Amino acid sequence: KETKIQLVIDAGQKHFGAIMCKACGMIYTASNPEDELQHVQHHHRFLEGIKYTGWKRERVVAEFWDGKIVLVLPHDPSYAIKKVEEVQELVDNELGFQQVVPKCPNKTKTFLFISDEKRVVGCLIAEPIQQAFRVLSEPTSPESPGSKECHRAWRCSNVPVPAVCGISRIWVFRFKRRKRIARRLVDTLRNRFMFGCFLSTNEIAFSDPTPDGKLFAAKYCNT
Ligand code: ACO
Ligand code: ZN
Repeated sequence: KETKIQLVIDAGQKHFGAIMCKACGMIYTASNPEDELQHVQHHHRFLEGIKYTGWKRERVVAEFWDGKIVLVLPHDPSYAIKKVEEVQELVDNELGFQQVVPKCPNKTKTFLFISDEKRVVGCLIAEPIQQAFRVLSEPTSPESPGSKECHRAWRCSNVPVPAVCGISRIWVFRFKRRKRIARRLVDTLRNRFMFGCFLSTNEIAFSDPTPDGKLFAAKYCNT
């Protein structure tokens, strides 16, 4: 009944006794009542959020041995929109994004990867864009060699390049990562974003990528 695993965190006494919930992925200190309460709240909201009961009308755009991808468009029934909003809230929460309202909400396309266990384990939100700015390779700063800080201040080129499709969010459930779910979401997006054409990797852009997002994008776009 206990779904907890002990983590060995090499971060000194402060995080001693931290555990990760095997169901929702939250890391917390079980001995701290405040932390425990926060976990209980997050746990419930998270599992409700990724629960997918199946819809009368769903737009299945890809099927795989381990799940399927469902596309949700802005004028879909309210149960579909509600689920997308729920998932986006979880994703934004995890990414530390402010709730940003999309620029053209009536042109947003959301792709949900539904696992065989009837859970939303991947989400990609895309919108049309006109231009993008390339992320430049990181400056190797001699002042801080070996600095592994995960900051998001990538240097960007100030020369815009034409682009067609912006990926405003891409997320995969913590325990389902590195199973090519993100890759399959982007493949499906490229196929489905514009009717009748397959977008090249030059035509898609990742907005404000996180370190994970950048690693994924670099790998994806080179292959
Ligand atoms: N570190 C190094 N390489 C990676 C990583 C990583 N964390 N993630 C993906 N890659 C590379 C690998 O080469 C991988 O292939 P391999 O597993 O055969 O080596 C390849 O990309 C394909 O990876 P997928 O399995 O398709 O990626 P995954 O399903 O794990 O999802 C994602 C990647 C979405 C970035 C996931 O790690 C995630 O949800 N992270 C947290 C949320 C996040 O940061 N999202 C990006 C925000 S940026 C934005 O939304 C625009
Ligand atoms: Zn939990």
